[in-house]
Amino acid sequence: LANGLGLTPQMGWNSWNHFNCNIAEKTIIETADALVSTGLSKLGYRYVNIDDCWAEKERDSKGNLVPKASTFPNGIKALADYVHSKGLKLGIYSDAGYQTCSKTMPGSLGHEEQDANTFASWGIDYLKYDNCNNDGSKPPERYPVMTRALLKTGRPIFFSLCEWGDLHPALWGAAVGNSWRTTNDIADTWDSMISRVDMNDVWAPYARFGGWNDPDMLEVGNGGMTKNEYIAHFSLWALVKAPLLIGCDVRSANNETLEIIGNEEVIAVNQDLLGVQGTKVRMEGDQEIWAGPLWGGRVAVVLLNRGPRDYEIIAEWDDIGLPSTATAKVRDLWKVSSISNFINTIIRFGRSQSSKLIYACVIFDILGA
Ligand code: DGJ
Repeated sequence: LANGLGLTPQMGWNSWNHFNCNIAEKTIIETADALVSTGLSKLGYRYVNIDDCWAEKERDSKGNLVPKASTFPNGIKALADYVHSKGLKLGIYSDAGYQTCSKTMPGSLGHEEQDANTFASWGIDYLKYDNCNNDGSKPPERYPVMTRALLKTGRPIFFSLCEWGDLHPALWGAAVGNSWRTTNDIADTWDSMISRVDMNDVWAPYARFGGWNDPDMLEVGNGGMTKNEYIAHFSLWALVKAPLLIGCDVRSANNETLEIIGNEEVIAVNQDLLGVQGTKVRMEGDQEIWAGPLWGGRVAVVLLNRGPRDYEIIAEWDDIGLPSTATAKVRDLWKVSSISNFINTIIRFGRSQSSKLIYACVIFDILGA
């Protein structure tokens, strides 16, 4: 969407994956504080996004949405002021239907302008727009109504389309929003995570500045996967230019989690200026090579072993779009220090048994064929 936002994939945090409906303004305030104190905000995680369940079940007598008094007693405007004072941005959630998915609060269908104006008056910077309990009409008809309402407010508000990929939003989302979900909800398991990134892959050509494919939010730190699986999750999300929206409780995130979501070089792959979504370029059974071009002739590569068996995965230069006679340097983004010179060669990766280890690297200084 040409609203000047989303020039790189959005980064931040969202309440849903960890908290579901158990949210309160205290959680949001403490999360904003934690994003700053952990240093994550400096790495680019700026959006603090409230998901479903923040409002009263009924609108007020003028038809306005009302923050839930028991959990958001000071209202959303005060929360936005606080989040802004920390140098962060506040996101909120609504639905292109009559009620949100939780059915605990109203949706915005038929109230688009009124709600967009409310959000703008509160100082909201981001809207995630869900698709539950609608009137049965098609998302490409309902979503642009909110797009126009948001643009009309004059406030820059990032617009995240959440219609779960049902009506192939990659095909129409670029004029409507800044990102669009290509899948239904992620769960905190290897199979769920890996199938989301597969579903998302087919839409790679549609990712661009201002509009990104969204395979759903991060599960890193929620406890359902091993460390190596979370490294795979984060590496793939970075490579495919997915939104990096942290989905754990940042207030209690351990060092392992912070090291994964705080890997600056992996984040840089995601935020790369070329803005091209990396894709699966080769597969053989459980062995896969994912790659994509980066600014300055660099290439990002992920070697992925999806299965339980031990493999050595080999990427030939021509698998990843380099001339077979090229000389290049390779930087392992998880070991961070190792730089090797490879001449006319390949990347090899041997996996230790029973862990889904991954190799994610950037290839640079390509010295020609
Ligand atoms: C469905 C969405 O896909 C989720 O991310 C979350 O927003 C829930 N709805 C909230 O009810």
